[in-house]
Order: sequence, then structure tokens, then C-alpha cells
Amino acid sequence: MAALRLAHEEKWWYADRVMWTGRFSQPTADLVLEYGESVSYDWKLYEHDIAGSTAHARAQLKAGMLTQEEFDAIANGLQEILADIKAGNFSWSMKLEDVHMNIESELTRRIGAPGAKLHTARSRNDQVATDTRLYCRAQIDATLELLKDMQRALVQKASQYAEVRIPGYTHLQRAQPVTIGHHLLAYVEMLDRDAARLADCRRRVNVSPLGSGAIAGSTINLDRAGIAAELGFDSVSENSMDAIADRDYIMETLFDLSLIGTHLSRLSEDLVLWSSAEFGYCTLSDAHTTGSSLMPQKKNPDVCELTRGKSGRLYGNLVSVMVAVKGLPLTYNRDLQEDKEPLFDSFETVSLALRVNAEMVAAMRINPDRCAAAVSDPLLLATDLADYLVRRGVPFRKAHELVGKAVAVSVGTGTPLNKLSLDEFKEISPEYGEDVHEVFSLDRAFALRTNPGAPSAANTARRIAYWQNKLA
Ligand code: ARG
Repeated sequence: MAALRLAHEEKWWYADRVMWTGRFSQPTADLVLEYGESVSYDWKLYEHDIAGSTAHARAQLKAGMLTQEEFDAIANGLQEILADIKAGNFSWSMKLEDVHMNIESELTRRIGAPGAKLHTARSRNDQVATDTRLYCRAQIDATLELLKDMQRALVQKASQYAEVRIPGYTHLQRAQPVTIGHHLLAYVEMLDRDAARLADCRRRVNVSPLGSGAIAGSTINLDRAGIAAELGFDSVSENSMDAIADRDYIMETLFDLSLIGTHLSRLSEDLVLWSSAEFGYCTLSDAHTTGSSLMPQKKNPDVCELTRGKSGRLYGNLVSVMVAVKGLPLTYNRDLQEDKEPLFDSFETVSLALRVNAEMVAAMRINPDRCAAAVSDPLLLATDLADYLVRRGVPFRKAHELVGKAVAVSVGTGTPLNKLSLDEFKEISPEYGEDVHEVFSLDRAFALRTNPGAPSAANTARRIAYWQNKLA
């Protein structure tokens, strides 16, 4: 830590303002303080900062650099500060720049001399990397729980409406029949990969940089492994320069959060469509929609739209850190302070998005009548008709053409595809058999879709059971 103002009488150091006294003849300009402070947001690291400092002090105790009394004073002082911060009784000072100096300075103000020993063999460079990794780890764990809650809401809805059939879309054109169950479970799969990605990222996050010092470790050797173990890290970093310079774990986390945003955004768009008068497949609850200040009839899917919009902000956070880091020479540069706001914002955004979306999905109703009307479109079974011809020995490309011709007749004459007569089918091709109309049964269509991943009732039921068990 920087040299702080020596309180005149006392033999210990504390400050109410950063004063780089030894080397400098002027105090830092107010505008520079304002420009450079990070405590207005990095105060959120306080719990991790205190945990890190406590572990660091314990290592100093073990190394014989602190007496038991000094260690106790530090550890208890930090716990009291922690309690005060939690109770809202701590006044943060922008003049002390960041969370680290605020807490250290206050500790020294409270306990005197031992506080001034805390920063031995440590720099804010390894301290901030430690705090941020601990923060990331805790937030990843919380996000993993929220992902599960979201998956639970989707699985519950999928099971409630497992066999409600709807058109599936490609290019937003009706393609083939699927079910609400199958459609919603698609998102459960996506969120599961999101969770796996975060869990994997956590392994790279959970490495202790403490002991890397400002750049090249310290001439005073503290037990890095012991500190790491106390903080729940899996290992210690192997290169002091790498440990304080890189922010790859932050970018990786931000990417994983962006992808969660992408998946929620696509779900949002589906629900915007489904809840419209044009589709009518679902009704969102009054509690999760909003009205219009002008049009009395409106019920708007704002939660979905906000989720869609916020995905852009998640990508922005990722890009802003990547750009901030890419041109920096090793090792620490103050640019790296710009990593925190995007990181905090992405976790906070994703956390709220998962919570509100889980609630909205849980409260959503599906309208089986509207679904049934839409899925009764016989054109959804045109592919099944081609498969029917294939079963009768017609090569698929030929079958595709023969069904295309039938569709053209249907569209041209205004006759639904399933209402073309046997003669009309036979006229297109003698390959069409007496049983051609049986193809237009949705029961048949779903019963045939038994291959893994396809939406037969049995497959969907099996997958719902799998998720219920996994998320229990
Ligand atoms: N607030 C700083 C950050 O977030 C802490 C590290 C400051 N280190 C330094 N050498 N100025 O990056």
C-alpha cells in the first residue's frame, strides 16, 4: 500500500485521503481522485477483501511476522469492519480510491500499529486479482443455482403441457409438428450447457494469485498454499506476472454470461410471438406483463423484451473488457480497473433475468385450443408424406418432388392437402397408395418420431423424468 499520511503523534499510519507522501510534493488533484476512484463500485468486493486479508494475516502469523496479539487485533478488527459494512455503518471514502485502501486504512485507524503491518508481502495487484476471483467464484455458484431454478420452471411447464402440439418453425414458417414439452425442453438443454460452461470456467477462476505481489512475488515468503487453502482455492498460480496481468477468467465468465443472455433472449422472442394475438399459444400472467399508458387494451410482454434487450448489454460488457485488455503490456496497468463494472453488471443482469424469467414461465398459461388450431395445418405433415413415399420405395428426392406437386395442387385449388382425393394424388403419381390419407394423423406423426431427440410422447416423458430427477 502507498505511504499514507503519518498521523502526527501516533506511531502508526492511517489516512483519510491517499497521500503518496514519500515521493510526492503535491497531493493528488481532486479531479484525479474522482477520475481514478473505484470504491463507488468495488466496495462490492468487501467480503472477499476481508477474507483475503484475514488469510494473508494468518500466513504472517505462521511466518512469525505477527504476534498472536497482533494477528487477533487484525482478524477481530476486520470482522468488526465486516459487520459494520453489512449493517450499513461504514463510510466509504472516494479519497481512499478503492475498497482495499478503504478497509486497510480503517483497520489501522481502529487498531493502530498492527494494521500497518498487514500489507507486508502483498500488493493491491495481487489483492485485487484475489478479491475478483473470489467474487467470480461466489457469483458463479449463485448463478448455477439460478440456472437450475430456471430449468425447473421450464421443466414444470413442459410436463404440464407435455403433449400439447404446436407447429415447429424454421424461418418462422410452419415446418413440422412439435409439442410445447419438446419446445420448452430445448431451452432446458441449452441452459444445462450454460451451467456446464460456468462450472468449467470456475476451475480456472479458482486459483490463488495471492503472493504474486506487485509483479514478481516478494522477498518475504509467506505460505501461499496455506493462504489458498484457507480461501478455498484449488491451487496457487504458477507465474506471478500472469497472475496479476491476465483477466482471461473474467472474459471467459463474461462470455458464459453472454450466452445465457442469448438463450434467454431467444426464449423471450418465442414468448413474445406466442403471447401475441396472432399466435395465441400462451398467456403471460398480469403480474409479468405491463399495460400501455395510452391504449387500454394492451398487455405487453415487457419482461421478454427487456431480456432480449439486455442480452446486448451482456455482449457489450464482454467486448469492453476484451478491448481494454488486448493492448496492455505485461503486467498490471490501471486500465485493468475497468474490468469490474462490466463484470458486476453482467452478473447482476443475468441474476435478475434468471429470477424474473423463472417466475414468469412458472405463471404462464398455455392455450391448448389455439395450439390445436394452428397445428391442424396439414402442410405441417408434408415431410411425413414424403417419408410415406420413401417407405414405398420412392427415392427421397423424387418423393420430395411428388409431395411438392401435391402441395401446388392444394395451394392452387384452395383444397387443404389432406383433402385432396385419392384420384388427385394418383394423378400426381401412382406411388400414392389407398392409405395416403392416414399420413395426416398427428397421432401417427408423433408415434413415428421415436428416435432419440425426436418429440414422441415417450421420448418427451423420458426426458422430463430425467430433468426432474437431475434438478431435484
Ligand atoms: N482499484 C485497482 C483495480 O481495480 C486496484 C489495483 C490498483 N493497483 C495499482 N497498482 N494502482 O485495478
